[in-house]
Amino acid sequence: MTKRTQVAIIGSGPAGLLLGQLLLKAGIDNVILERHTREHVLGRIRAGVLEQGTVGLIDEAGCGRRMHREGLIHHGIELSLRGQRHRIDFNDLVGKSVMVYGQTEVTRDLMDARAGIGAPTEYEALNVTPSGYDGTQPIVSYLKDGAAHELGCDFIAGCDGFHGVSRHSVPESALTVFERVYPFGWLGVLADVRPLSHELIYVNHARGFALCSMRSPTRSRYYIQCDASERPGHWPDDRFWEELRRRLDPEAGAQLATGPSVEESIAPLRSFVAGPMRFGRLFLAGDAAHIVPPTGAKGLNLAASDVHYLAEGLIAHYRSGSDAGLNAYSARALARVWKAERFSWWMTSLLHKFSDSGAFGERIQLAELEYLVGSRAAATALAENYVGLPF
Ligand code: FAD
Ligand code: DHB
Repeated sequence: MTKRTQVAIIGSGPAGLLLGQLLLKAGIDNVILERHTREHVLGRIRAGVLEQGTVGLIDEAGCGRRMHREGLIHHGIELSLRGQRHRIDFNDLVGKSVMVYGQTEVTRDLMDARAGIGAPTEYEALNVTPSGYDGTQPIVSYLKDGAAHELGCDFIAGCDGFHGVSRHSVPESALTVFERVYPFGWLGVLADVRPLSHELIYVNHARGFALCSMRSPTRSRYYIQCDASERPGHWPDDRFWEELRRRLDPEAGAQLATGPSVEESIAPLRSFVAGPMRFGRLFLAGDAAHIVPPTGAKGLNLAASDVHYLAEGLIAHYRSGSDAGLNAYSARALARVWKAERFSWWMTSLLHKFSDSGAFGERIQLAELEYLVGSRAAATALAENYVGLPF
């Protein structure tokens, strides 16, 4: 059966949902095709920190109410270095803050708003295949409940994450890929215990990196650097808490509240950029085009800035017939992506233990950390990037 819409969006992660909502607000029809169920998408525990620009975009999409009620505003972070904590005060350094509000909650708010206005999302859409985007009549074909469907559209938005079909549908020769894979991962644990501190603590320790984060005043999110080959099953709760405590300063270690994990996962660390982000009438946004290592919490925020540029371009196309925004999309998005790639790579290099860096590498890392916590200029550069560069 052939249906039609103006914009076919592949993927109902933050990028696809936010784009869908911004377009609907501007009167532009769209259909989201998602491979998994709604429950599966909501069950993935991922990012936790939103930049002000992302918060503004969620507001613009009309979905910010619960975020402002339940989200936690953070005016700084702490860096733990050789057993001592140093605060980076965003408010003082750059006059901005960030919002701690989980990706799961952002996704739920956007899904609820979409369902509330009856906008179509096809969950469990299988074999999703974009085609015809190098001409004027793109089509996305898919299987749903065993039946074959075709969705004709003006444009396709590939918001289907790193493993999605959109980027893979483009001939390899048309893409330039830049990649760095790090020799370690993050083991993350979510637990219903009070957070260690009212702000996030990023830890550089001889045993490896650790991060103390949170989702609410009663729900904590902790990460430790682990070997890339580790499996969550190797880490019973007691082993995780003990290892985390060993990486904290004594005061924090004594205050750490522990409890059964609600969720445990291992994320590999990777930097990846594929360009351009546009192929005729197919546009890539979010993780479909780029990945950052999680240090510095830029992944979800980059998905939001891509969507901002793409929504602007599509809205101008339909309102005024101008394609200037769509033509500039890839270059505008990639300019911001590369700055966040640099920052995430730098935060990762600064805070993790690299087994091959040798004694010289370790001393350079320590010198850089000491410079950072002792220099207002260096701390300002961190703060400016952490709260998010302008869209
Ligand atoms: P996604 O959230 O990946 O959404 C893509 C959607 O497309 C998914 O729902 C997927 O099911 C769907 N899809 C995929 N293929 C198809 C297909 N063929 N057909 C139809 N639908 C398809 N960032 C941080 O800032 N901090 C973190 O702590 C953090 N932790 C992370 C942990 C993990 C395990 C991962 C994978 C990512 C993490 N990130 C983190 C990154 C952040 O979550 C992503 O940058 C963000 O989800 C990007 O949003 P997106 O919408 O582009 O992609
Ligand atoms: C979280 C993840 C990050 O990568 C980060 O830098 C800060 C917070 C989190 O999941 O809470």
